[in-house]
Amino acid sequence: MSDKKQRVLLVDDDAAIREILSAILSRHNYDVDQAENGRDGLRMAENRVYDHIITDIAMPVMGGLTFLEQLRDKEIHAATTVISAHTDMENVRRAFKLGASDFIAKPFQSDDAVLLTLKKVEEKARLAKENRLLRREVGDSYKFANIVSKSGKMQAIFNIISKIADYKTTILVSGESGTGKELIAKAIHYNSVRKNKPLIDVNCGGIPDTLLESELFGHVKGAFTDAYRAKKGLFEEADGGTLFLDEMGELPLALQVKMLRALQEEEIRPLGESKSVKVDVRIIAATSKNLREEVNKKNFREDLFYRINVLNIEVPPLRDRREDIPLLVSHFIEKYNKRLGLDIEKVNSEYLQCMMDYSWPGNVRELENVIERSMALSEQKILELELLPPELLRDTGRPVDRPNNELFFQDEISIKKNSKKLEKILITKALTQTKGNKTRAALLLEISLPALLYKIKEYQVN
Ligand SMILES: Nc1ncnc2c1ncn2[C@@H]1O[C@H](COP(=O)(O)OP(=O)(O)OP(=O)(O)O)[C@@H](O)[C@H]1O
Ligand SMILES: [Mg+2]
Repeated sequence: MSDKKQRVLLVDDDAAIREILSAILSRHNYDVDQAENGRDGLRMAENRVYDHIITDIAMPVMGGLTFLEQLRDKEIHAATTVISAHTDMENVRRAFKLGASDFIAKPFQSDDAVLLTLKKVEEKARLAKENRLLRREVGDSYKFANIVSKSGKMQAIFNIISKIADYKTTILVSGESGTGKELIAKAIHYNSVRKNKPLIDVNCGGIPDTLLESELFGHVKGAFTDAYRAKKGLFEEADGGTLFLDEMGELPLALQVKMLRALQEEEIRPLGESKSVKVDVRIIAATSKNLREEVNKKNFREDLFYRINVLNIEVPPLRDRREDIPLLVSHFIEKYNKRLGLDIEKVNSEYLQCMMDYSWPGNVRELENVIERSMALSEQKILELELLPPELLRDTGRPVDRPNNELFFQDEISIKKNSKKLEKILITKALTQTKGNKTRAALLLEISLPALLYKIKEYQVN
């Protein structure tokens, strides 16, 4: 133990008790403040940091239990001990539930007995504090530039990123859709010396060939019919920074030669321009296709492949790093609580187990969507299994609530009539689940609110 004085707040309405206790404490290196009820104690605890709070239970104005409750709600952490008569164990139990660690019985036995109890309580509080700090540390160490993960494979990727971020090395990030390739590209850029220069991303698959060319390299006025004025290409926009070539595997063959030249020469020539322009860009390419296979299939030029595949970061699919699932779940609950103004605490164990069992073909993006959807639909603070989309339940071998036997129509074969019946059942179910909230029911049914209102009227659902 250090000989630093322990600061104690002693709360009791009985002046005699305060006198006796504070005499004992002062003799043993405690620095004691006193209050005669919970309200005054609370005010003092808000103004000064105490190592230890000792409180009586029955007091006028504000009793010990309310006082403890307030300390907990205000997250005022200190060792807490209650003073109590032996006959009052029921209240002592309540005090323990509210965070008190032990009690000293009135009348006091001996100085030593009192001191021993206090030391024990202080030791417990010290451990709890260490735990709090540790949890905070752990929380941060699983995050790298907003990428949440504790899996070894991802930690290895974080390591590579911090080592190579500053170099101009071209990086190819590969991985299935939704694994976090774009996040990784951002992490590289924002951890590099280029972080104050632009990060420009281009989706090589999303734009028609001719447009993509002028987007990338720019054009002069009149270079083609619609070129009413000159336009800078994205290569030039990214000068000094990073160019993120997303879905590189989709880059049309015709553009691959020009891309290769741009990367090799580090210069580009806008359409219709006779001179080339020097550019200084760091290239990060991403692909969800297997580029080597694309090379074999002659969809992707081999020389370009070697030019961009200098350093390959392969992001593993989520099903190969299931230990990340619980972390991601908490991360997204936090994210959407903020975004949707909700107060969801967690998922229950069956829900989590189902997530652990599922194969996640859409990877982290799919998981994020599932959580967001469940949160939007939940009426409770804890997410339950029923909120999961049916395909998740089905894929993991869990029963999916069937709309019941009415569905097995024996003598009616008309699709039209049966669809109406089915719709009516599903609408009723959705309304029951959402306790009559039509907006949420429409979300569940994946139809628009006006459509739902119309159907409710037509099928006379109540
Ligand atoms: N490890 C992670 N931690 C937190 N969020 C993640 C993580 N991985 C992915 N996400 C989130 O999942 C979504 C998809 O990630 P991202 O866009 O980076 O994937 P992608 O691999 O580029 O997908 P695609 O191939 O479909 O473009 C994003 O909203 C992203 O923020
Ligand atoms: Mg992407």
